[in-house]
Amino acid sequence: MRKIEHYPVLHREVINFFKSIKKGYIVDATVGGGGHSFLILKNFSEVKIIGIDKDDYAIQIADQRLKQFKGRYTLIKSSFKNIDTILDQLGIYSAEGFLFDLGVSIFHLKTERGFSFQRDEPLDMRMDRSQSLTAYEVVNRYPKNILEKIIFEYGEEKFAKRIVKNIIEERKKNPIRTTKQLADIVYRSYPPPLRRSRIHPATKTFQAIRIEVNDELSEIKQGVSKGIERLKKEGIIQVISFHSLEDRIVKNIFREAKKLKKLEILTKKPITPGEEEIRENPPSRSAKLRVGRRI
Ligand SMILES: C[S@@+](CC[C@H](N)C(=O)[O-])C[C@H]1O[C@@H](n2cnc3c(N)ncnc32)[C@H](O)[C@@H]1O
Repeated sequence: MRKIEHYPVLHREVINFFKSIKKGYIVDATVGGGGHSFLILKNFSEVKIIGIDKDDYAIQIADQRLKQFKGRYTLIKSSFKNIDTILDQLGIYSAEGFLFDLGVSIFHLKTERGFSFQRDEPLDMRMDRSQSLTAYEVVNRYPKNILEKIIFEYGEEKFAKRIVKNIIEERKKNPIRTTKQLADIVYRSYPPPLRRSRIHPATKTFQAIRIEVNDELSEIKQGVSKGIERLKKEGIIQVISFHSLEDRIVKNIFREAKKLKKLEILTKKPITPGEEEIRENPPSRSAKLRVGRRI
């Protein structure tokens, strides 16, 4: 297996917020390459990890990364929207901590899974490779109005109509099979003066299609809400999001839980990486961490 390093985002802050947890379980709901879990197991010698990921490859990498802590971690391939049934099956009602580090992992972008438009890859974008819906289906088979809504809402893309018009024209001639083909269509749909901005025009469209393929927003709502329900008194929940749609959902769930006197919010404003971390790990730039403590 190719080794891919993953630098855990906001790792100092995440460890610091968990430091009130002396023993018990922390659920790493997005175990990914095991970066955060590794640090948790290393820093808190009596804590056990339940690591979840919907990607089977992530589970393999995390297992490799964590093997020195054998006996202190359990890895489960599933969506975190099933966190309640996962805990039930393990015979655990509640946990001392939950961590959600949302979005894709570095290996998704580097291993020809169709998430990246930097190279030419088949349009896929599934985190869970056992599901049938792929980006190819969304781009080539979804009706015009639905595709427009997805790109407008999930991509917050104001040129959604022009992009979809061009997608439809193109797919009538030939199926759109690769990330590069799609990125080129989006690029051509942008007004020429805006094509060369710092962020590639295809970024928002790719984000939108990825959200649709993986049903990301609905799963975040279910997973984070269930996480709060299954936190022990005084337990800590931490959520790292990477774009405004995710962050808004987390903010609202936390506020609602505060109103219901279930959660004390420990981050009045979300925590973001400092200059040093952004320099070391540029993709951390857009990360936002929100933390709550169960009442
Ligand atoms: C940013 S990475 C996590 C990296 C990890 N914290 C580390 O330090 O290595 C996000 C991971 O969450 C997984 N993921 C995203 N949505 C998920 C969901 N709904 N259920 C389970 N896993 C999910 C992705 O497959 C990916 O591996």
